[in-house]
Amino acid sequence: MSTRPPYLKIEALSKHYGSMAAVDEVSLEVAAGEMVVLLGPSGCGKTTTLRLIAGFVEASAGRILLEGRDYAGLPPYQREMGMVFQSYALFPHMTVAQNISFGLRMRKMPAAQIASRLEEVLALVKLEKMADRYPKQLSGGQQQRVALARALAIRPKLLLLDEPLSNLDANLRQEVAREIRRLQRAAGLTALMVTHDQDEAMAMADRLVVMDRGRVQQVGPQEALYEAPENPFVARFIGHSNLLRGTLRDGCRLRLGEGVEAQLAQRYNLAGDATLALRPERIRLLPPGDPTPARMTLAVEDATYVGAHVEYLLALPGGGSLILHQPTTGLAGAARLAPGSRAGLSWDAGSERIFDASDRALAAAGPAPALASV
Ligand SMILES: Nc1ncnc2c1ncn2[C@@H]1O[C@H](COP(=O)(O)OP(=O)(O)O)[C@@H](O)[C@H]1O
Ligand SMILES: [Mg+2]
Repeated sequence: MSTRPPYLKIEALSKHYGSMAAVDEVSLEVAAGEMVVLLGPSGCGKTTTLRLIAGFVEASAGRILLEGRDYAGLPPYQREMGMVFQSYALFPHMTVAQNISFGLRMRKMPAAQIASRLEEVLALVKLEKMADRYPKQLSGGQQQRVALARALAIRPKLLLLDEPLSNLDANLRQEVAREIRRLQRAAGLTALMVTHDQDEAMAMADRLVVMDRGRVQQVGPQEALYEAPENPFVARFIGHSNLLRGTLRDGCRLRLGEGVEAQLAQRYNLAGDATLALRPERIRLLPPGDPTPARMTLAVEDATYVGAHVEYLLALPGGGSLILHQPTTGLAGAARLAPGSRAGLSWDAGSERIFDASDRALAAAGPAPALASV
């Protein structure tokens, strides 16, 4: 590990509105050149976190350090941060060129320097031919590229992006996403982006920060969040997880209710209430006659062919359904279990995740005893 201080360091940052904590002790370190994405449901405090960093909102507590310097009390225009909003927020009465150079004129940059900087960023976002147009004469994607160019023009110490793709048509979203990523990498910019869209976050981030109710739930790269969620919220929010609540016995048998038990692949040092998280595509449906012992047996409720997989719904005790995705293998393998049939299920040790009664992930104590063949 490097002993270099992080480029951006956020320490226990909080923002209260009355008795409500919109942002609740958020701590985060970002390395120079990194793209970190804040991901969470609407209202979880993403925008407020970004606005605190930009200086538009005053923190109730905590610190923001950029290159080791405390930013408390600095007004937004002295923070040298470029901000891009969902709504583009372009000045309608200014041309593309005037919009982009606005921040430079505010900073009293000499005209010749403004002209060359303008040319440079127009080329970066490929809008050289649009310099004299007004925002309303541009498509949404082009307007967002102007907003991006405006943020880049000031050579920001930090690029802050708040749902920059949300107003774009689905087909434009990927294109602008790739554009933002390309520019951010090429310029070696450190960026913090906010989104509620999981796919967007996964596609753009070097690291992700999952937030819920003002708090950081987990920080890590895509694989860590997907393969090793630290709590049930992250397990369900990143991809889909079946969350099965039950009572753990002998460290490896989870009783789900009325005669239904899951035989876990690993042992855990826990007795009592626990939650098992299983991803739909990591559960195997054992074909009739397969000698593999089942970890759990459930009744099929429904099976739907959706192309890449067949989605099975299996009845859980207590009323819910377990979702299972069985990969398709062509017409020859198209046989499906009919509703009402009993289905044996299996999964590997690496695909099960157990949380205790306080929703904390448990490390396995070792493999569970082998299941008896039936
Ligand atoms: N100026 C404000 N006054 C009161 N409550 C606010 C204000 N700004 C945001 N909030 C509340 O703080 C919470 C977080 O909001 P926000 O940061 O906008 O969430 P997100 O961007 O994740 O959707 C929400 O409950 C929101 O209603
Ligand atoms: Mg928001």
